[in-house]
Amino acid sequence: MSKTEQAIGIFDSGIGGLTVASAIQKLLPNEKIIYFGDTAHVPYGDKSSSAIQFYSEKIADFLLSKKCKLIVIACNTASAAARKSTAEHVKNVVVLNVIDPVVDYVSTHFNKSTIGLIGTKGTINSRVYPKAIQKKNSKIKTNSLATPLLAPMIEEGFFNNNISKTVISAYLEKSSLQNIDALILGCTHYPLIQKEIETVYKKKKQKVKILNSADIVAQYVKESLKQQKLLAKKSTPKHEFFVSDYTSSFEESTKIFFGGKVKLKEVDLWKSK
Ligand code: DGL
Repeated sequence: MSKTEQAIGIFDSGIGGLTVASAIQKLLPNEKIIYFGDTAHVPYGDKSSSAIQFYSEKIADFLLSKKCKLIVIACNTASAAARKSTAEHVKNVVVLNVIDPVVDYVSTHFNKSTIGLIGTKGTINSRVYPKAIQKKNSKIKTNSLATPLLAPMIEEGFFNNNISKTVISAYLEKSSLQNIDALILGCTHYPLIQKEIETVYKKKKQKVKILNSADIVAQYVKESLKQQKLLAKKSTPKHEFFVSDYTSSFEESTKIFFGGKVKLKEVDLWKSK
């Protein structure tokens, strides 16, 4: 198999990264995707950095064993904790994360603006986003808020209903998220509640651009493959989806995140049965 025909490896703590996989599939329909969801360890949001670094290296090794030509860390929490260690661990294959593309985008498109950021406790407490944005463009102010209820709520299928509306509004009422020009959805689960977030700001008559990292990251993946001359020349999919702990409910939920039918295979990276 020539290198251009090899797959793009994508991983997340669970199924949230499928929003990124879906955007990549739409932009690059010729590419084969191998996805890994670490459902045995989800959520990553309140795990230690060292644990997330360990999991990420193991998953990267698995994706390399499947001969992936590029690896995408499709999880903000893992990107915050393990983007450097994973890239150092992986030799010969480029490792992209979901934070750098968004930082680049914001730094060039929102000069002199105030940007809101929501994400897991791990992502927000790391301060990776504000530090990186400040370094690229010191005229941008970043207001961060940890929104730990959102990922589990979405994972349980609670969105577009009264419960999600109440939880989302409660977070978006916080003073740090008022009078902002844009809001970064700093968690790969959040594209599923993007419309609900937009509605809250519209009702308050505040013009806030909601930044969905999935599309920005997909563009970045395209550029990286192009630069490395690794874009697939002909259509190669049959995508493959792996999880570290299989449940039928996860398989059901994948449809919400990816659309269409996804067949999950369990792979034993940690368990000794
Ligand atoms: N998908 C993860 C992220 O983008 C959040 C879920 C978790 O806490 O594992 O940060």
